[in-house]
Amino acid sequence: MADLDDIKDGKDFGAGTPPDTSRFFLKGAAHHDWGMKARLSAMFRPETGRTVMLAFDHGYFQGPTTGLERIDLTIAPLAPYTDVLMGTRGAIRTMIPPEVNKPVALRCSAGNSILTELSNELISVEIEDALRLGVSAMAAQVYIGAEYEHKSIGNVVKLIDSGLRYGIPTMAVTGVGADMVRDARYFGLATRIAAEIGAQVVKSYYVDEGFENIVLGCPVPIVIAGGKKLPEADALEMAYRAIDQGAAGVDMGRNVFQSEKPLAMLKALEAVVHHGATGAEAYQLFQDS
Ligand code: R5P
Repeated sequence: MADLDDIKDGKDFGAGTPPDTSRFFLKGAAHHDWGMKARLSAMFRPETGRTVMLAFDHGYFQGPTTGLERIDLTIAPLAPYTDVLMGTRGAIRTMIPPEVNKPVALRCSAGNSILTELSNELISVEIEDALRLGVSAMAAQVYIGAEYEHKSIGNVVKLIDSGLRYGIPTMAVTGVGADMVRDARYFGLATRIAAEIGAQVVKSYYVDEGFENIVLGCPVPIVIAGGKKLPEADALEMAYRAIDQGAAGVDMGRNVFQSEKPLAMLKALEAVVHHGATGAEAYQLFQDS
């Protein structure tokens, strides 16, 4: 039976201090539920509003590409130095120890390969398995303008709907068909579509002209992919420009795990994303590591 003997009336209701109704620190997420915000806060550092994600999901369509031959040897040791791990459930379960205790952005699409049409994807993970893995986000491509555009948008819509049921954000990844022009007009279109269908985070590529407007036109945070391996100084300069122009972080793969010094590269990216370093300052850090 409940103890009713010593019930004290509340005394301090904080009169004069109104409840905090300030908005959530990430754009577009102010009206989500607690679980969604908690997962977003695990991925994006609340003190900077940004994130350094490490993408190693390439194997789901590329196989064991350079740097990902043994994820247990190349990626797992980097886990403490990134904010988020982005991988497939197969790679996470078999090659990343759960003890790393890092938020996971789970690749949730598959069904294609470098030998076939890339935009022809399907959803590859049931929401129950994402929950079982304790992921912080689910991710799949929208292939705007590609042969299977409609299907890829449908995939992401389904992830968003199931994620909303359980408070899991969905990151829409702008997959670019081989024939697409990679310019601000294209990414402005793709990122806006991704946000309007309900993605809580959008992954895009950086473009030299007009990236600021891509960010402004997208009502949720944008993180940039790295793309093909660049000289480290160029990759860090690209990250700096993206952050300077409003990106909420990076989700880079090859420019980290194909670098001669992946850990130094991650630390240099952290300096850019979270500590205001320029590309040149970050490259100096990279060289000194
Ligand atoms: C691409 O399909 C994957 O989502 C990668 O995670 C993404 O492209 C980022 O990797 P990278 O920086 O190597 O382009």
